[in-house]
Amino acid sequence: MKKLFIIANWKSNKNAAEAKMWFESISKLKTQISERKEKTVIICPPFTLLPYTQNNIQQLHLQWYVGAQNISPFKQGAYTGEVNASQVKEFGEYTILGHSERRDNFQEDDDLLIKKVELAVQYGLIPIFCIQGVETPIPKDVILAAYEPVFAIGTGVPDTPENAESVIKAIKKKNPHVKYVLYGGSVTGDNVRSFTGKPLIDGVLVGGASLDPKKFADIVKNS
Ligand code: PGA
Repeated sequence: MKKLFIIANWKSNKNAAEAKMWFESISKLKTQISERKEKTVIICPPFTLLPYTQNNIQQLHLQWYVGAQNISPFKQGAYTGEVNASQVKEFGEYTILGHSERRDNFQEDDDLLIKKVELAVQYGLIPIFCIQGVETPIPKDVILAAYEPVFAIGTGVPDTPENAESVIKAIKKKNPHVKYVLYGGSVTGDNVRSFTGKPLIDGVLVGGASLDPKKFADIVKNS
């Protein structure tokens, strides 16, 4: 059975009270979510909820992981407002980098993202590197990437599994250092299997549907 990554990207959503409700619901759904070794589930909350998410995963005895959605392009120091890789590493193992929302809203470019990938790896974080297509360059230390076509993000209109498979095939051919490539964009419990069932798609990155515990549990279950 191939390894699968199921990643929740909460984006700039949820306060502590809402995260508490999410985990309370997940604890009730736990028996439905078959914990299978080949499925790596990673929850990426906002920075403010990283410790809380780590604690809840431990308390519920879920074999899940924690990730951030971004890191600073600098080490610790006088960089007001930034959260650096070593700070994230205290609470998680992964970080999303290069999401199109950061490229578009915060002008993150390829050079900046190379710096972030280097720092992530230096501090022991595994980058989940988002790309919009085969043209997007993937830094050399990246082994886990996510193909997220902009037209499919938050629109309810996913790419077709056939097209996603063929783009991911091209991405893997062009970037032999990348071991796993996920699909992201309007993934639901109903369509997840059509993506994860494809031989070259190694999992899914889920935004909107990950905010609802029942919908996320369905995605984990059906993947
Ligand atoms: P979506 O977002 O599932 O809401 O389309 C995916 C993403 O941006 O990672």
